[in-house]
Amino acid sequence: MAYYALVPAAGSGSRMHALSGRALPKQYLPLAGQPLIRHALEALCATPAIVEVFVVLAPDDALWPAAAMADLGPKLRVLRCGGDTRAQSVANGLRAMAHELGGEAEIGDDWILVHDAARPCLTVAMVENLIAEVGEDDAGGLLAVPVADTLKRADESGRVHQTVPREGLWQAQTPQMFRHRLLLDALDFAPQVTDEASAIETLGLLPHLVPADASNLKVTYPLDLQLAEWILQSRKAERKQ
Ligand code: CTP
Ligand code: MG
Repeated sequence: MAYYALVPAAGSGSRMHALSGRALPKQYLPLAGQPLIRHALEALCATPAIVEVFVVLAPDDALWPAAAMADLGPKLRVLRCGGDTRAQSVANGLRAMAHELGGEAEIGDDWILVHDAARPCLTVAMVENLIAEVGEDDAGGLLAVPVADTLKRADESGRVHQTVPREGLWQAQTPQMFRHRLLLDALDFAPQVTDEASAIETLGLLPHLVPADASNLKVTYPLDLQLAEWILQSRKAERKQ
């Protein structure tokens, strides 16, 4: 049974642009001395269990920094088949990687770890923990953190309509790992989802929630970029001690 990573990176970073005024797609913004996307790709390529790492770019992406990625080695493969939504980019990527690897019959039962290009603080230990916790359970699983804040549902005027008990609520992160054939079927069945687990849930399966930590944040707004920079630099300083 093989493990592959699939990294959707065909977004434009519109929420980041709206606040920062920077036009560069966020996956290419500079972060701790590297293009943002390189950090996650480095962790995935450095995970011994993962045999190949497929990155899904927009078909017209002219900014992919191939030279800066060269030293990540032969595991890294580029697919230029991004779609209009994240789910579409993932589904297109699943089809393209199957095509490259000899078809669905070859890889249908293999595991795919889908990871946002925009989560740069992923570590090899987080990936290995996910793989170990999910094991061979066909329902798959995802990294997630229990919700810490009290949650409020708003009414139309922006006032509190209701307090939502946080017991049992988790924030979904990535990687999310599922078998190739099952994930593709699920995304065809439920193409409007915002993460892979939701698609799997529509098939009636119950993915594992694997506790992670908040350092695996998604860079959405300018402040997230500063937090990610701080996390990566602190880890670097700890390694030097
Ligand atoms: N993504 C993708 N294809 C899309 C949209 C998003 O591959 N059509 C990818 C992004 O590149 C990112 C991940 O999905 O790595 C998570 O998406 P998000 O954080 O929403 O990134 P963007 O869509 O780029 O940002 P925004 O929603 O602010 O425009
Ligand atoms: Mg988006």
